[in-house]
Amino acid sequence: MLEKIRETEEEISLLTADSEEVLEELRIKYLGKKGVIASLFTQFRELPPDAKRETGQLLNNLKEKASARIVELKNSLSRPGESTIIDDLTRPGDIIPTGTRHPLSIVRNEIISIFSRIGFTVSEGPEIESDNNVFTRLNFPPEHPARDMQDTFYIKRHSEEDSNINDILLRTHTSSVQVRVMESEKPPIRTISPGRVFRNEAISARAHCIFHQVEGLYIDTEVSFADLRQTLLFFAREMFGEDTRIRLRPSFFPFTEPSAEMDVNCTICGGKGCNVCKYSGWLEVLGCGMVDPAVLENCGIDSSLYTGYAFGMGIERIAMLKYQVNDLRLYFENDIRFLNQFSSAF
Ligand code: DAH
Repeated sequence: MLEKIRETEEEISLLTADSEEVLEELRIKYLGKKGVIASLFTQFRELPPDAKRETGQLLNNLKEKASARIVELKNSLSRPGESTIIDDLTRPGDIIPTGTRHPLSIVRNEIISIFSRIGFTVSEGPEIESDNNVFTRLNFPPEHPARDMQDTFYIKRHSEEDSNINDILLRTHTSSVQVRVMESEKPPIRTISPGRVFRNEAISARAHCIFHQVEGLYIDTEVSFADLRQTLLFFAREMFGEDTRIRLRPSFFPFTEPSAEMDVNCTICGGKGCNVCKYSGWLEVLGCGMVDPAVLENCGIDSSLYTGYAFGMGIERIAMLKYQVNDLRLYFENDIRFLNQFSSAF
């Protein structure tokens, strides 16, 4: 009997079927009420009790294998090409659905495309950075509250006595790439730096501990605030539509002087006032300013010869305005039902 089980098992593993009818015959032959396996079960009942245990196990196993093999053959019949030979070579191929880009990638690529049309290159820097590149060279004094304000994730922090050792941290903004570019390149410099940044924030609809920014930097002789304004106006109109208006409000950043924040007119209510623009008619989009001469000097650029402007924006912020999706968390959960709604040329 054991021998018969083994033989049947081998037969089953070698079965093939090129049509539903053949497959049904095979199923009846092995798994039918009067089939091979059923008759083995009948013989099994006659066995002495001590032989039953081992044989029973083998027999159950055989039955499972036979069922699995039949299902396998059935699947390959309904999907030609896997184990049967296709005889119609003109048959169209299966449609493979393509995915969609993540909305943050779409917006980042669009920002890069807009600035590359007016001569900006793309440069990147590391996410794990030194305190020097993130804060010190950008004119943040040692005890400046912004270092805490930005809720930095420190990887290695020096003790009070050891203050000459450079801290290692996760960058809190992409402005650190400015420093790297200025130190390694000679003006004229015209570059944008997209990337991921980190701040120790509680996750909510409006804040996340990981997000994305694009930094912009232009350094040359005689770069003026008017150049900055015109570049940002071009960007805003390309991004949000040709009727977009911008507004620059005075602000403060340690690395720019003067500094400003840019708003665009609210595209959702058209300026009439809604809960997205908090009834002001304007939406804040980015920070900017003229690079502080002290920063130029910190990075090895002669501030008596060169001036420059810089700006920085949040990619999530732009995406929220563009798509009117007001919960940041959706961008990080990767729910396919959300992601599938975005398509793009970028
Ligand atoms: N780094 C700033 C932030 O994370 C954004 C920023 C503001 C960047 C002004 C700039 C700038 O380059 O000039 O909030």
